[in-house]
Amino acid sequence: MVDGEALGRAFVQRTPEKWELNQYWYSAATIAAIVKEVEERATKAAFLSTPSVYFSLKDLQLRKCSFVFDVDAQWSRSPNYVKWDFNKPKEIPEAFHHSFDFVVIDPPFITSEVWTKYAEAARLLLAENGKILLSTIMENSQLLERMLDVKPQVFQPCIPHLVYQYVFFTNYDATNLGVPNPEVEQ
Ligand SMILES: C[S@@+](CC[C@H](N)C(=O)[O-])C[C@H]1O[C@@H](n2cnc3c(N)ncnc32)[C@H](O)[C@@H]1O
Repeated sequence: MVDGEALGRAFVQRTPEKWELNQYWYSAATIAAIVKEVEERATKAAFLSTPSVYFSLKDLQLRKCSFVFDVDAQWSRSPNYVKWDFNKPKEIPEAFHHSFDFVVIDPPFITSEVWTKYAEAARLLLAENGKILLSTIMENSQLLERMLDVKPQVFQPCIPHLVYQYVFFTNYDATNLGVPNPEVEQ
């Protein structure tokens, strides 16, 4: 039996963070928590700039149906990698439009300009009543509520090399994320 954090730990260990792409991986335990959340809720998920979570999915059926969208072509050998630059949200191939029931988002920046583009991409990808799980700073709370109707959750991500404390937001009742993360001081 593979322990819940093993795949996340393996991803983090084999994938150095590239500072020029603002790559900050979640901790192995945070990856495991988000994998659990997505695996319980999704049948087909889009991972926007969240490769650590996609590559740590344990549910092989979900992994086969889901896609990771990121500008870093290091994953281009994976058939489920889509090279995507958030500056061109409309360039997402039409075959993907409104075809996902879940998106996970962690952009490389926290500004409203960048969030506007990620929100546009999320709306393009999600089917009706699709679920959203994203991370950013708490100060973006009102902005994100307006854009994507998401609310902050108690469980916060541990991102070991990032100086800010991020918060998870969802547009649905995420009971698994209603408890504090023991890795994060609150
Ligand atoms: C803050 S990291 C988020 C990673 C996430 N915490 C994880 O553990 O998977 C930002 C991500 O955005 C990606 N990225 C950087 N520039 C991008 C761009 N122009 N378009 C799309 N993705 C980009 C990076 O490659 C990285 O995966």
